[in-house]
Order: sequence, then structure tokens, then C-alpha cells
Amino acid sequence: MRKVTYINDNWLYKPSFKTGDQMNDFDVKQYQEVELPHNNIDLPYNCFDENMYQFVSCYRRNIYISSEDKNKYIFVDFEGVMSYAKVYINGKYLGEHKGGYTPFSMELTDHLEFDQDNHLVVMVDSREREDIPPFGHVVDFLTYGGIYREVSLRFVEKSYVNHVFVKTLHVLETPSLEVDLELIRENDLVIEVALYDDDQLIKYVKKDIDKGLMDVSIEMNHLTGIELWSLEKPKLYDLSIKLYDNNLLMDDYKVKFGFRSAEFKSDGFYLNNKKVKLNGLNRHQSFPYVGYAMPERAQKKDADIIKYNLGLNIVRTSHYPQSRHFLDRCDEIGLMVFEEIPGWQHIGEKKWQEVSKQELREMIRRDCNRPSVTIWGVRVNESKDHHDFYTLTNDLARSLDPTRQTTGVRCTEGSEFLEDVYSMNDFVHSGHNQVLRKQEKVTRLKSDVPYLVSEHTGHMYPTKRFDHETRLIEHANRHLRVLNEQVGRQDITGAIGWCAFDYNTHKDFGSGDKICYHGVMDMFRIPKYAASVYSSQRDDEIIMDVASLIAKGERDSGGYFPIQVFTNCDAIKVEMAGSDKGTYYPDKKRYPHVKHAPIMIENTLGEAFERTMATTKFSDKDKDKFKSFVLEVMKGEHHLSKKTKRMLLGLVFKYRLKTSDIGKLARMSLDSWGEKDTSVTLIGVKNGVEVIRKTLGGMVYKDRLEVKVDDIVLSTKKSSYDVTRIEFKMLDQRGNLLPFSDDVLNIKLDGPGQIIGPNQVSLIGGARAVWVKTTGKKGVIKVSVDTPVRCDTISIKVK
Ligand code: GAL
Repeated sequence: MRKVTYINDNWLYKPSFKTGDQMNDFDVKQYQEVELPHNNIDLPYNCFDENMYQFVSCYRRNIYISSEDKNKYIFVDFEGVMSYAKVYINGKYLGEHKGGYTPFSMELTDHLEFDQDNHLVVMVDSREREDIPPFGHVVDFLTYGGIYREVSLRFVEKSYVNHVFVKTLHVLETPSLEVDLELIRENDLVIEVALYDDDQLIKYVKKDIDKGLMDVSIEMNHLTGIELWSLEKPKLYDLSIKLYDNNLLMDDYKVKFGFRSAEFKSDGFYLNNKKVKLNGLNRHQSFPYVGYAMPERAQKKDADIIKYNLGLNIVRTSHYPQSRHFLDRCDEIGLMVFEEIPGWQHIGEKKWQEVSKQELREMIRRDCNRPSVTIWGVRVNESKDHHDFYTLTNDLARSLDPTRQTTGVRCTEGSEFLEDVYSMNDFVHSGHNQVLRKQEKVTRLKSDVPYLVSEHTGHMYPTKRFDHETRLIEHANRHLRVLNEQVGRQDITGAIGWCAFDYNTHKDFGSGDKICYHGVMDMFRIPKYAASVYSSQRDDEIIMDVASLIAKGERDSGGYFPIQVFTNCDAIKVEMAGSDKGTYYPDKKRYPHVKHAPIMIENTLGEAFERTMATTKFSDKDKDKFKSFVLEVMKGEHHLSKKTKRMLLGLVFKYRLKTSDIGKLARMSLDSWGEKDTSVTLIGVKNGVEVIRKTLGGMVYKDRLEVKVDDIVLSTKKSSYDVTRIEFKMLDQRGNLLPFSDDVLNIKLDGPGQIIGPNQVSLIGGARAVWVKTTGKKGVIKVSVDTPVRCDTISIKVK
């Protein structure tokens, strides 16, 4: 029977490799003990030398193999090593692997000593080698280094299943399966294939197969009662494949999959024959300090954030195959995936292209059974046309997986269309112009084809979570404008924005501190206003995110109107100092296509002023009246017409009013609605009743540091260490974030856990998060923070 043992603990690591290191003799003092996933070096949060992780290192581990396993084939399976590996067992070279994003295996069978330790050694080259994608030119992300995904030992009998592709056919009419098996075997076998819905057997097929065949196809026809995998109910089924040799069970291979049809057409994307507008973000799989080396829970959490917090239905794994845990979660929760080969703008020489094709093969082989994976990206992101190479990658993808369409991401118009879906990074919008290009302009084809916007916004408007609020609002509105446009457009199947989370990058990109601030969330997964554009489209929770601090002096020339609120409420009632300031409704005029347009709260005094201007004649002597008139003007500046502004200038000139007087008046007028207490209460209304209430602005002060943890129970039973995220937020007395608090946090941790990154950090934009990892022991991890304000202590149970 098949047996899989994870070997993620007890590795020895040293940040160098020299000839001889592959041998069994070594100086243990040169090594440190590490656990996988491991990054070859901890990086600072930002402002570091990007060459820090680009070196060759050595990993070694003893593996004890019992003689009970003597008659088995034994493999070591690597899920991801960045970016080149040479593997040795007991000093003997087993092979190499190029490419950091796809799995590979090495067979150990003939090289093992039984009932004793064997020395597994991996030389890891994490330099940017020109022969391996995505390298060869500049790249806007970091690839980090090390054995950053899990490793396991696989023991199989002399006959075993090497690979399975479960093809679902006719899912909308009479669902059936074609189970394509790749077998390694010695004798005639009996195969049993069983389809399960949880524990319930749905169908069972038994077949004798002759010795000769290695590729076997088994059909399961006319399946009844099958539930489709959908976004709302992502139903998964299990398939068990048993191999018998003379009644002896040789293998029991299990695979999860789902029944669904997914098709990009020229008039839209169809999931199970239902048109669905694709709405998503791109994701890099990186985290602060440790880069890619994050275990299962953190990977899965990202999928949850994209699906549940942001309410999106698709993610693009830009620009490479991502963690299987992330994809597992996409399968489980119903989040569609656009997965693509590694690369960035550059196509290398022949050898490079060979590695690229190998990576394409490995990606499809790994992920072909995932219902979430909706399309394969078979072009290097934003690379130029390359007829021969892309003909090959398309052919390869289609032959390996005839059930999915192909696409490839470009950034130039009129590029050669060899795929099934034309994907375009459309960064045309720069604030005041056209929001998205017309498909025909981009493709230059005679008729519409399936068309997807694979990126937008990103570098056109880099925005830090701690930027000025006007910038944060414009950042959000750029996402909003694209969302609104794409939802209303028939020629676009959907849009996937750039991007979900800020990420570390090279010197040629980002803000000079090795961070690209393009996320709708920061690297700590803390939202910017742009995140609210997406989350406010959800209907499963009341959202009323106020994109303003309501601080009188934050905006240019003061004031805080209009107040923009991202919400799924029907209306917002506004109160100030207890008095009613009107009810405001979604701005459907500006954003007619989105489900929930934001609500703009404007200062209506501006309008009143316009009216007064039209009807009143002022005498030259009536200075007081004029002053109050100016006051009104300042309050309503957002509404002033050109004519009004001209009249105002005229009056200012006539009365020789000094700028300082206007400034004084302006400051006075910032008491917007004329109330002394300038805090504003917003009352969200849905179906006629109050559903949410928030008060912001006015007198605010630091009240407490909110400390929140994503998970209160962690597990030592996972295949490797476990992690969770703790978020710190400085809040005012009403529970609103104070984004300009930069307090230092001394984080104290007791128990079987460890903080990833430094224990002493400062808040960034009033908030920050750290990840805490388990150390292999059970118990309670207690996290407290040394800060002058009140805050909670967090307890995390490790089971
Ligand atoms: C795109 C590229 C992305 C990222 C983005 C920033 O051109 O595909 O990887 O660099 O720009 O907006």
C-alpha cells in the first residue's frame, strides 16, 4: 500500500554549498536546524539588498528507512525548491530540477540502506539563473530562496498509480467520467475505481488490465444525482483507485475533484452554463520576512480573504503556479483560478524555453483535477509575440488537458492570438480618461473573441495604506471605475485587478524600498480603502466603510466633503451633534453598473450658497454679510460653478480681502454644517431600518490597541509547523483606526510559539500584523504587547 510521510522537520541548513557537502561526513557545527517551509534567509520588511537571498545553500536530513519497506519503490517528493536543486542520497547524485514553482520527485529505491539513517542532501541554488524562468531580464517581484514548500517520502508497491486525470464529461446533461490513469506495474492487474460523495459510494467500476498497458482509461457513465461545483456550493467528490495484483491490494490512490463546466465565450464567461462576470485580483504568494515560505494555513487564509472578505470570484496566480494549499482552498470555497507559467516579460533562449515547457507540463499535471482552475496561462506574462514558442505551449497545454481553454497575458495591442481567450493587461486608465479599452481596439480582430482584462490599476496609481486620504480615495475610485465599466461591458468576460496584496520587489520597481504598493491590502493583509470597493459589493454582511478620517485639516485647503462611503446599505442618514443632516443614496449616476454604488455625502450648504448668489445683491457696506457669504462659499467649495468662483474672486478683489482673512474664514467654515462638535454620525439603512452606525471625526484620541488573532487554535498535527496572524490596530474611543499612530510595539510571546520577524515593531499607518508559528510542542501561546495604551492578551491553543 501507498504510504506518504512528511519530512519537514529536523533539516540541517547552511547558507553555502561546496563540493563534498553531499557526502555523509559533515561538520554539524556549520549547520542550523530548520523546519520546512524554509526561506534561505530572513529578509527585513523593506529597504533591503535584493541580492541577500540570491546564493547557493545546502539542506540535509537523515531519513531512516525500515527494512519493512525493502520491496517498495521509494521516492522523495519536493513541492517547491527555489529555483534550482541538485539532490543526493548517501553521497550519490540523483538528479537536478530547474524551476522553483513546480513539484518534482527523485527516486531513492536503489540507493538506500535499510534499518539505518540515509543522508539526503539538497544543493539549492537561489540565484537568478538566466536559464530558468522567470529570470533572464528584470522581474517585478522577488523569488526568494530555499526549500520553501513541503517535502515528503512516498512508498509505493511495485505496481502503483503514477498519475490520474479525472476528466468530467457532459456535466450539464448526463455527467460521466473518463479517468485517465498512468500506471507503473509489473503484472496483470485488477483496477477498482470508486466514486464517493463523502463516505457514500456513488459508482464503482472494476476492470482487468493486461500487463502491457501503462496508460489506462476508465469510464464511468450516466452518473445520477451529481451536484455541480459552483461558486455558491463548491461540491467536491472523491475518487478512489485501487490496484490489485492477485487479490493483493497494491495501491489505493485518492483524488478530489468536482463536476463543472467552465467556458469563456465572446459574449461572456459561463460557469455551468450560467453567465458569470469575472471579478478578481492578482495574487503574489509572498509574505513579509519569509517571502514564499509560509505553510498551509497562511496560504489558505489568502484564498479566504479574496473570496470572503473581498467577495471576488477569481484569482490569477501571477505569475507562476502557487502553493497547493492555496489552490486546495480555492477548490473548497469556490474561488476560480487563472493559473499561469512562471515568467515576466522575457522569453529566453532555447534552453530557457525547454524549462518553461517543462514547468507548463508540471503545472498541468499537478493541478488538472482542480475544479477551481478555470484556465491555463500558457504565455509568459506581458511577453512579446513568439509564434513558434507559443504555438508549442498552446499545443502542449491542449494535449495534456483538452478540457480547459488556454490564454496568455499581453500588454500590447494586436498581438497574435493563438489561445482560446485573449487576455490583456489594460492600464489605460489614468484618472480622468477612458476606463478600459474596447476589445476590438486591443485585439484588432474582425469579430469579438473571449476577452479578459487580466490586470488594471497597479503601477498606474501606487498607494500606500498610510498615504494621504485623498490618494487612498482616488486609488479606491480607480478600482471602482474599472469595476463599474467592466460589469457594464458585454465584450469583456471580466477583470482581474492588480493586485490583492502589496509585495516585495526588485530595485527597478516599487517605491524604492523594495515594496510595490499596488495591493488593495498591504503586505500584512490589512485593507486600504480600495479593498472596500470590492467588499462593499457583498451581500452577506452589512458593510459601511467610510473612506475618510473626517478630520478638518487632512484634505488640501481643508474640509472633508464629500465623504465617500463604500457600502451595501440602501441609504445613509447623517447626524451631526444630534441634528439631522439629511439622507444620502448610492451614487448610481456615476456608477450605474456596480451592484452597490458608493454613497457620497456632500455639503448641501454649497448648493444653498449658489441659490443665494443668484438672488441676493450685496451692498458695499455690508461687510459682515459678505464675510458670512465667504464662509458659505468655503463650506460649499465642492459645488461652486466657475461663474460663482469668478464672482467670489471679484468680491474678494473689491473688498481687498487678505488671503489670511480668507484662510481664517476657511478654517472657521470647516465647522462644516455650522456645528461646534464636528464629529459625524453615519447611520446605514437597509430595507427601511437602521443596520449599522458609525461616528467619526471631531475629538478623537487613542483609546486602545486592538489585538486580534485569525485563529485561536493551531495544530501540531499538520504536515509542518502551523501559523496564524495577529493584527494590531490603534483605535480611537469609538473603535475607528487612528492611521497616524506610529507607536512601537514590544511583542511578548510565551509558550510553544515564535514570532516571524522582529518582536519589536512599529505600527505602520496605525496598524500592523505579525505571524506566529508553532514550534512543535503543544500548549498555550500567549501574546501580549508592551504599550502605554490598553490592549488585550491573546491566547492561542496549540493542539
Ligand atoms: C504589470 C505586470 C505586473 C506588475 C504590474 C504593476 O505590467 O504584469 O507583474 O508589475 O504591471 O502594475
